[in-house]
Amino acid sequence: MAEQTMRAVVAEAYGDPDVLKVTRLPVPEPGPGAVRLRVAYVSLNPVDVFARQGRWAAPLPLIPGVSHDGVVDKLGAGVDAGWLGKRVQSSGNFGGCADYSIAKPGTFSELPAGIDWKVGAVWRGMVGTAWHSVHTAAQVQAGQTVVIHAGAGAIGIVMTQIAREEGATVIALCGGPAKIAFARPYGAKHFIDYRATDWVPEVMRLTNGRGADVILDGNGGPETPKNYDAIAPNGLVLVMGATAGREGRGPDVPVELLMKKSFKVGAMSLNALAADLKGRDDDLMLDAVRSGRWKIPITDVVELEDVPALHARFERRETMGRPIIRVGGDL
Ligand SMILES: NC(=O)c1ccc[n+]([C@@H]2O[C@H](COP(=O)([O-])OP(=O)(O)OC[C@H]3O[C@@H](n4cnc5c(N)ncnc54)[C@H](OP(=O)(O)O)[C@@H]3O)[C@@H](O)[C@H]2O)c1
Repeated sequence: MAEQTMRAVVAEAYGDPDVLKVTRLPVPEPGPGAVRLRVAYVSLNPVDVFARQGRWAAPLPLIPGVSHDGVVDKLGAGVDAGWLGKRVQSSGNFGGCADYSIAKPGTFSELPAGIDWKVGAVWRGMVGTAWHSVHTAAQVQAGQTVVIHAGAGAIGIVMTQIAREEGATVIALCGGPAKIAFARPYGAKHFIDYRATDWVPEVMRLTNGRGADVILDGNGGPETPKNYDAIAPNGLVLVMGATAGREGRGPDVPVELLMKKSFKVGAMSLNALAADLKGRDDDLMLDAVRSGRWKIPITDVVELEDVPALHARFERRETMGRPIIRVGGDL
């Protein structure tokens, strides 16, 4: 029998977006404990870009698509027959940018009723990171002022909605006027185009010279040291990503600097917390998404053939919210 093949987007080497080629590959077979998915939609996740650039531990050849959903169409040895035909989300497995993907044991979960295919591909990591950054790690309180970097980014938009719901005033830092226009409906009170203006004096002005109580920073990169100028006494700078790179963060924060203002620097990693969290607040997050109280900022839906161009757009910092890729579509 002729080998079955599928469409896939593959990088044979790390590098610029043009290392991604749309090609045909054999349909993969699930190993013991794993399942095979017929892919519905796949998210453009920053980790896909980092992996293709060689900034993330991901072996070659690389099929990006670390967050996606689909229907289980084949079971590996030992998997309960009840999984066959179920709608599932696959998290942490590259390979979503293809008609079929493999989800390793323990990395797939059933899509809850009321979550559609598009939201299903993206919501878990985005909402979990946002909630546990704002609520669990930063413990944002009513009356506080919260600065959010990449305020038009996927997690930035969800963090804005959660911080506002907690009663905080949000100042969103956005890279350009188009991003400010995009982020505006999600509830931040103030917007700063941080690439056109020095955002620190603006934060100081908006907080009557006190600074922000909490700064949520998923960008990192060269702006990082400015957090320590914009933070209020007893404030918290929470690092939860490094889209702009780890380089240029400057030296470790000196204790003298922390003492001078008496502030804290911390971090939130969902992977690192997962074992402790044990699914805490999952139902609360599901309710907020299912009811539409927290809006999931899916922006454009592109085709598998457009993935290299989408990666290039991400690198030009033109994406807003979360673009997704249609593979099989609504299955
Ligand atoms: N802590 C965790 O557990 C956890 C979990 C998942 C994801 N994350 C991380 O959280 C961060 C935010 O995730 P996200 O999915 O919401 O991403 P995102 O913010 O939507 O990423 C895109 C935005 O990042 C900003 N950016 C800064 N430097 C960039 C660069 N060199 N290239 C491209 N974009 C750049 C741009 O916004 P501006 O121009 O407005 O700055 C851009 O629009 C990422 O670093 C991600 O890896 C953390």
